[in-house]
Amino acid sequence: SWPDRIISGIQPTGILHIGNYYGAVKNWINLQNSNEIICSIVDFHSITLSYASKLLDHKKLPENILLMTACLLGCGLNSEKSILFLQSEVPQHTQLCWVLSCLTTVPRLARQPQYREKSENIKDIPSGLFFYPVLQAADILIYKATKVPVGKDQLQHLQLASHLARKFNALYGETFPIPELIFSGNIASKIKNLRNPHKKMSKSYPDKLSRIEITDSPDDITEKIKKAVTDCTSQVTYEPDIRPGVSNLVGIHSVITGRSPAALCDEVKHLNTGQYKLLVAEILIETLKPIQKEINQLLNDKSFLISVLKNGAIKASKITSDTWTVVRKKIGC
Ligand code: ADP
Ligand code: NA
Repeated sequence: SWPDRIISGIQPTGILHIGNYYGAVKNWINLQNSNEIICSIVDFHSITLSYASKLLDHKKLPENILLMTACLLGCGLNSEKSILFLQSEVPQHTQLCWVLSCLTTVPRLARQPQYREKSENIKDIPSGLFFYPVLQAADILIYKATKVPVGKDQLQHLQLASHLARKFNALYGETFPIPELIFSGNIASKIKNLRNPHKKMSKSYPDKLSRIEITDSPDDITEKIKKAVTDCTSQVTYEPDIRPGVSNLVGIHSVITGRSPAALCDEVKHLNTGQYKLLVAEILIETLKPIQKEINQLLNDKSFLISVLKNGAIKASKITSDTWTVVRKKIGC
């Protein structure tokens, strides 16, 4: 059996939002009490859409990377206890990605739901977008990770990583553990886009009203929650399939408080959706306040943030170079 190893990643495509925080990051912080967490800021993943969509300005990437570093540390990731680093500083991720890409097929990658969704409205689809989940599999397998705490949006990607681990093991002999996905404690599903609750909340949508960023001011939070799309029924109920908008707000309320949607709906039955929105906004503002204070302090010391990433890359490289040496030998290169 393999020793527990926990790895996760996040794209520096924008500011951390509450979907990232409650879907993933908060779980890392909890796990960190008894485990080392390996956390990669996946800049190579973040360039997969930039050419096609113009959503990501590469000139802003260095700034976004430091901002993401500050956000993760501000949320409580401990750079002494855990390993926080930049993906592109550890070359074995992309080296293993190439090897893994030779073990899967074009039809399998073309069936990946995230690929299909992301490439839907793009005329000239970048091939990097196609290989996105293979690089993600490499991010995981290069550490021989056993556990991957990510949000529910990543389920299919993790299944691909498991498939590639099995395939490699079958061809070249036992090398990788089969990584297991672990979900955040009480998050029932993805946190949804505030403007279109049929989609997930994401950093990569142009409409800033669609997400609550971890650094949003109280006024921004209130405005965004007020403008969140709901239906014309004024009662607050939790019915994600038929009332995704208001249910998303109850879902957010539920992950913050740790209380069940049913209990919350019962407690606020005297409020209409408009009044309920103000309550949710207020709770979010209070919850994010201490994190924002930390982030602001960290952003005053850019050289500290850079040194955290440098040290993280040194620690990460010790693991990845060992794996890579073994892999190379096994494949005969
Ligand atoms: P984004 O789509 O916002 O760019 P990333 O791809 O960087 O997010 O994912 C970072 C982490 O946040 C992953 O573990 C992912 O599963 C989680 N995550 C992203 N969006 C959501 C969401 N809307 N709800 C829950 N978890 C999410
Ligand atoms: Na994403």
